[in-house]
Amino acid sequence: MYSASIFLALLPHLAHALPGTKINKRSDILIPTTCFDSNTTLNEYFNYNYPWGDTHNGAAIMSSANAVISTPGTLTLNATYTGGSDYAYDSGTVWAKQAFTVEESGGLDFSADFLAPVVTGTWPAFWLDGVNSWPPEVDIAEWKGTGDISFNTFNTSSVVTADDVYYPDPTEFHTVKAEFRDENGSDVSIKFYLDGTLITEQYASGLTGQPLYLIIDLQMEGSSGSPGPTGTTLYEIKNLEVVSQNS
Ligand SMILES: *[C@@H]1O[C@H](CO)[C@@H](O)[C@H](O)[C@H]1NC(C)=O
Ligand SMILES: *[C@@H]1O[C@H](CO)[C@@H](O)[C@H](O)[C@H]1NC(C)=O
Ligand SMILES: *[C@@H]1O[C@H](CO)[C@@H](O)[C@H](O)[C@H]1NC(C)=O
Ligand SMILES: *[C@@H]1O[C@H](CO)[C@@H](O)[C@H](O)[C@H]1NC(C)=O
Repeated sequence: MYSASIFLALLPHLAHALPGTKINKRSDILIPTTCFDSNTTLNEYFNYNYPWGDTHNGAAIMSSANAVISTPGTLTLNATYTGGSDYAYDSGTVWAKQAFTVEESGGLDFSADFLAPVVTGTWPAFWLDGVNSWPPEVDIAEWKGTGDISFNTFNTSSVVTADDVYYPDPTEFHTVKAEFRDENGSDVSIKFYLDGTLITEQYASGLTGQPLYLIIDLQMEGSSGSPGPTGTTLYEIKNLEVVSQNS
């Protein structure tokens, strides 16, 4: 008698018998949610500062001392006012050791929980920047000192899709997720979610196949206005996960 269970038992063998046949698209965890469990796991997945150095378009100079795991599970970036004449803040930034690429027919998912400051002069962000050129740039989340959260995609340095939306209670953690999917071997669709709600979908021209740096920084002043706070500003990130939907 034909048995469904025998058929199911044969499935793996059928898959082996048909090389090149894909039954399911694979999801691979590229950065696991355990990445901020300790300084050791932080150092396994991230480097300190920016890929190009310790400054970027703002008033903070970055140092590894200001990017620490003080509570296991949470990365704390700490911007401290120093009043220095070139850089008025010491702060923290990390960037992922691996680059991320949306491949043809594939995709990437980025998600994390953020405790992000929104006062004037504080400019925390979670963003992707081209390894080979700028742009591409996608700001999965950026807070520019206005009380809003911004989601941005750059096609060129001046052709930018930008959505700024009200950011609820900044003293609470909020979850941001971005789903990147190849559209046609060239353009990528990006769906941005805040606390599980789809906020916007943007399209990045020519992003497929472009390797991207992932950067988490607490920059100060610059695009977030001035003067910034003269005390200590903290930006905390937990449950960060990057999942590949590339086949
Ligand atoms: C990680 O290193 C920093 C700075 O060296 C230290 O302050 C912190 O306690 C360490 N975190 C853990 C969880 O050991
Ligand atoms: C932030 O950095 C300053 C200066 O190094 C330090 O005094 C303060 O304890 C840090 N705060 C936290 C919560 O890590
Ligand atoms: C992908 O679609 C865009 C329009 O959304 C078009 O401009 C572009 O030429 C397409 N690319 C390919 C490789 O088909
Ligand atoms: C960027 O390029 C994509 C794909 O061609 C297009 O859909 C989108 O409208 C462009 N963005 C802007 C701001 O023109």
